[in-house]
Amino acid sequence: MPKIGDIQLPDFPLLLAPMEDVSDPPFRALCKEQGADVVYTEFISSEGLIRDAAKSVMKLDIYERERPVGIQIFGAELDSMLQSIDIVEKSNPDIIDINFGCPVKKVVSKNAGAGILKDIPLMIKLTEEMVKRTHLPITVKTRLGWDSDSIKIVEVAERLQDVGIKAISIHGRTRVQMYKGSADWGPIAAVKNNPRMHIPIFGNGDVDTPEMAMKMRDEYGLDGAMIGRASIGYPWFFNEVKHYFKTGTHKDPPTMEERVSAARRHLQMAIDWKGEKLGVFETRRHYTNYFKGIPNFKEYRMKMVTSDEAEDVFAAFDEVMEMFGDYQFTTV
Ligand SMILES: Cc1cc2nc3c(=O)[nH]c(=O)nc-3n(C[C@H](O)[C@H](O)[C@H](O)COP(=O)(O)O)c2cc1C
Repeated sequence: MPKIGDIQLPDFPLLLAPMEDVSDPPFRALCKEQGADVVYTEFISSEGLIRDAAKSVMKLDIYERERPVGIQIFGAELDSMLQSIDIVEKSNPDIIDINFGCPVKKVVSKNAGAGILKDIPLMIKLTEEMVKRTHLPITVKTRLGWDSDSIKIVEVAERLQDVGIKAISIHGRTRVQMYKGSADWGPIAAVKNNPRMHIPIFGNGDVDTPEMAMKMRDEYGLDGAMIGRASIGYPWFFNEVKHYFKTGTHKDPPTMEERVSAARRHLQMAIDWKGEKLGVFETRRHYTNYFKGIPNFKEYRMKMVTSDEAEDVFAAFDEVMEMFGDYQFTTV
């Protein structure tokens, strides 16, 4: 069974992907309750951290209930990355993850995120120094390469392992692909098949059904799956995958009561963490998926996503229970 440093994981662990504005403490807690084995924060700017920018620092908040948790940082300046390791350590995460995969222009233009895929020696150097700086396990999340002509992930993963990373998660797309097309897990399997590799290799990209997760395990032979978009507003996805692995059958989708209860707890945790205004505002994006597919729901969704007061959103949840309490969801 895979281990990240000393952290023992179950067979074929499911990891919650780092997602900007999504993978915050309330959402991570819900995913953890629903079976995620490791959760990651969204990416945090090393430059922001060393400037003590409030927004970056707040992203370091982690809670006991979500362990093991990794804090993900990005940057391309060695000094800033090393200083931010010292800052991140104070939050006492279980893992520090380096983002070498973000495709966004303002990140790659500074050689950070997937930008570093154009400068592998810098990637290796940064990683080596970061590993040396901390007693915590360092993991890396990256993409297949910069573009389809520069897929060197087998060699890159081996070099990252040689400088001491404890696991790697690979998104089966290149930077040039951004999120287009479908993820290619073939090169990730090639990393796993390299006989020199001994750290866990986690696959990422397009796992949105239990069958896809099973394919990643059985056909591609990977050590675990990192799941992003399929979990947004649907933390039950992790347990659905686990249920399928165990029984070969699909778990019944969550009932309305479970959905309303999750939405309510999500909102309450968000308010407890960042106050009413931000809590109400930033939880909005999840409701569409919590309540996907219900006919004649628009009026209630609108109330949830336009009310500024928590009280009104909670009242909308009550109304939903009253109006749609016995709605039967079907497996999607
Ligand atoms: C809204 C959103 C935000 C993301 N933010 C990050 C991030 O902060 N760090 C990171 O490494 N990847 C980020 N990603 C990429 C995901 O972690 C993941 O690699 C990608 O979505 C593919 O996996 P999926 O098909 O399971 O969603 C983000 C993706 C989405 C959709």
